[in-house]
Amino acid sequence: MTVTDNSINAAASASISLTVNGEQHRLELAADTPLLWVLRDHLGMTGTKFGCGIAQCGACTVHVDGRATRSCMMPVEAVDGATITTIEGLAPRRDHVLQTLWLEMNVPQCGYCQSGMLMAAAALLDDIPAPTDADIDARVSNICRCGTYPRVRAAIHRAAAARNGGQ
Ligand code: FES
Ligand code: FES
Repeated sequence: MTVTDNSINAAASASISLTVNGEQHRLELAADTPLLWVLRDHLGMTGTKFGCGIAQCGACTVHVDGRATRSCMMPVEAVDGATITTIEGLAPRRDHVLQTLWLEMNVPQCGYCQSGMLMAAAALLDDIPAPTDADIDARVSNICRCGTYPRVRAAIHRAAAARNGGQ
């Protein structure tokens, strides 16, 4: 009879504390669980999407202590104690200036990439109130298979103008 010892491959369990969209959570789970799976599977916040799983597409972008972060390759132990904002918590009434303009300007097509786009764009505007096209290209490098890039860029510029007292 063969006996398999799975303990060799078992990831160490950890007690993790997170504040997500203003709510505190304590979780017992494998220390290397990607933050994306914690949000989606453990906390039921499915607005953050899985795309590539290798930190390339940006579909899984959330804010970790205010910084846009790709959550699919972020082990949860690395964000223990952090404050996380997901698309569900970007604005209490889904009325962040970007969300309003996203709707007004029909930015999404299929929509799959858009929560990540919005989270990257929101972090950009928090850091750079009047971003240039180059700033947008550098900071919102998310991949959209529907090619919504021109509308994303236009909406970010309008949001910046609106926040800065323009239109
Ligand atoms: S799913 Fe995380 S970057 Fe693509
Ligand atoms: S809107 Fe379809 S992938 Fe971006």
